[in-house]
Amino acid sequence: MTILVTGGAGFIGSNFILDWFENTQEELINIDKLTYAGNLENLRTIQDNKSYVFIKGCITDQSLISKILNKYNPRLLINFAAESHVDRSIYKPSEFIQTNIIGTFNLLEESYKYWQKLECKLQRDFRFLHISTDEVYGSLSVNAQPFKENNRYEPNSPYSASKASSDHLVRAYFHTYKFPTLTTNCSNNYGPYHFPEKLIPLTIVNALNGENLPIYGDGKQIRDWLYVKDHCAALKRVIEKGVPGNVYNIGGWNEKTNISVVELICKHLDAIKPRADGKSYAKQITFIKDRPGHDLRYAIDASKIENELNWRPKETFEMGIKKTINWYLENEIWVKHIKTGNYKEWINNHYSKDYL
Ligand code: NAD
Ligand code: TYD
Repeated sequence: MTILVTGGAGFIGSNFILDWFENTQEELINIDKLTYAGNLENLRTIQDNKSYVFIKGCITDQSLISKILNKYNPRLLINFAAESHVDRSIYKPSEFIQTNIIGTFNLLEESYKYWQKLECKLQRDFRFLHISTDEVYGSLSVNAQPFKENNRYEPNSPYSASKASSDHLVRAYFHTYKFPTLTTNCSNNYGPYHFPEKLIPLTIVNALNGENLPIYGDGKQIRDWLYVKDHCAALKRVIEKGVPGNVYNIGGWNEKTNISVVELICKHLDAIKPRADGKSYAKQITFIKDRPGHDLRYAIDASKIENELNWRPKETFEMGIKKTINWYLENEIWVKHIKTGNYKEWINNHYSKDYL
């Protein structure tokens, strides 16, 4: 059998693929446009695996998606492909509309057509798994209950609005056509291969380079962090046991303020790789102008996936952060290759004096 993955050269997709080949040799096709966030270096260890096929392509390309579906006959499509960075969506939303909305629509259309032609058993077993985010539910006040699957959608950024839109399309294909979709809404991930424009890898990389550790606003915003390998395990459980038409929230029960996350990284780095002057990396923390429309708090109530699919996160934040820091220390070349071109341009513009 075969599974089709989109966006598998990104952070979560590449962790998922590496994890997949640790446990099975089932053929996996990865379609990725290789935007600034897609990096084939993440998949170097499996690139010669005979069960792995990489195709450079865009999920908005109707004829390509149709050809791939009909050539490889997958039993499952997992849609990781997306523009995923809130700050980029604020400055240039158009790519988010194209990939996250039009791209997901295109995948739904083409895979629905493909699915209709499958013979009975294959049709019954086929799944379309759409990977989404907790950000579609909007922002929580400090004392509000964590997001449940039936929370109202209240997206606040162009990123979360585009993901919300794609979630609605996925829902509609199940309700209208009985197309067997599954949707997962996950909290903030962290771990290996995380692109250093996001808070945790940016902090580690900047700290080691002696650069500022930028904190938006007062740093009291809260995110619910989940180690990426726990997310991958949850996705596998949803693939195996998830009931079509369902949404599963995935989270770590692990709410932290941004400032506490950055301080914890500094504390670990102080112990593992002390600064030459003996001072703490916390000296590099710099409070900067807040993100426009910055959501105060995200938190996931993961009881549905825990009770119905028997999944629980395994990694503690303390251990997960240590593993992540060690990964960045051991993969300086990966970081060096990323810190060129588009990345450099983004950092220079985004954290420029004008913006601050
Ligand atoms: P990422 O930005 O690291 O990777 C996205 C990947 O998609 C890249 O490889 C990129 O090249 C590819 N891509 C972008 N546009 C494409 C297109 N038009 N066609 C084909 N490929 C395209 O993102 P990520 O952090 O790995 O997130 C993966 C998914 O998980 C996204 O849908 C995101 O919304 C969701 N999600 C992420 C988080 C998180 O904390 N990172 C949390 C919850 C949900
Ligand atoms: P980020 O990693 O971009 O994820 P998201 O916006 O999807 O939650 O940001 C996590 C939090 O960290 C968010 O509240 C914004 C904040 N942040 C900073 O304070 N400084 C930074 O340089 C970045 C990138 C994020």
